[in-house]
Amino acid sequence: MTIHNHGARADWAERSGGWVQNQDVLDRAFAPFTSAVMEAVGVAREERVLDVGCGPGTLLETASRLGARAVGVDISAEMVAAARSRVPDAEVIEGDAQVTDLLDAAPGRPFDAVVSRFGTMFFEDPVAAFTNIRVACAPGARLAMVTWRSGEQDLFTCGLEPLLARLDDPPGPPPEDRPGPMGLATEEHLRAVLLEAGWDEVHLVALTARCDYRTRSTDGVDERMAVALSGSVGRVALERARRELGAEELHGLLDRARGLLAERAGHRGVGFDARAWLTAARCNPQAVAGSGR
Ligand SMILES: C[S@@+](CC[C@H](N)C(=O)[O-])C[C@H]1O[C@@H](n2cnc3c(N)ncnc32)[C@H](O)[C@@H]1O
Repeated sequence: MTIHNHGARADWAERSGGWVQNQDVLDRAFAPFTSAVMEAVGVAREERVLDVGCGPGTLLETASRLGARAVGVDISAEMVAAARSRVPDAEVIEGDAQVTDLLDAAPGRPFDAVVSRFGTMFFEDPVAAFTNIRVACAPGARLAMVTWRSGEQDLFTCGLEPLLARLDDPPGPPPEDRPGPMGLATEEHLRAVLLEAGWDEVHLVALTARCDYRTRSTDGVDERMAVALSGSVGRVALERARRELGAEELHGLLDRARGLLAERAGHRGVGFDARAWLTAARCNPQAVAGSGR
């Protein structure tokens, strides 16, 4: 496996357990974004579809159910194992989408479509990554993906407020347009990356959709806390709190956090509106293989 994104690989090796464990909660919370991607791409039977940063395989499963030949790529061994077991019909590559020769790793005809749900923001060199993905695509292939949008905050902090307020140096939301969850946050950067990488007909829609953490039998407090504490801000906050505060105080803060979430939830349950870009683009048949120009 060729890896360039060492930071992302190490980070996801640590975080994947939490993501896989909370897969059902995340699938419910991100359902509006899943539908948006699948509607935008419009997969047809027998098409070859690539899911980038496929994680435990939500989009792979949907594409496969629609009769597509689904292929996933993910840098995390744990995510790959989860996706393979969830979607046995799909082919799942363990690799770095920025550098892996995707048609070599999953031999077959070039991809007709590329999808991603929050799997494309972590590349150290996003132009190289989207170029690498494009060269594995058929001319005119469609891309549809969601990425978090500039200004998103609740996703990182909702439920953690009492903990963050108590820390001397609380972690802030991830930086925009830098590799990480907010890596494709601004319209200018996102558009420039795709055009430079040889994609055209780039169309962005600013989506705002409610992430709902309720289940049939709960108000979503425990579900949101589990996700928040295993996320990028929550993990750092918890680590600092364990260093700076006693166990009893930390316990009290987390109880308070749960209480506040429950109070705010009211009859709608725990949830918040989250901001994402839905991006659609096409593989430019004129772009020279291996370059974005
Ligand atoms: C936020 S998770 C999203 C997972 C999945 N798409 C979902 O919606 O459940 C981001 C995923 O991108 C993967 N990832 C990060 N950097 C990657 C890279 N360079 N190549 C392939 N996958 C990568 C991570 O391992 C992780 O599974």
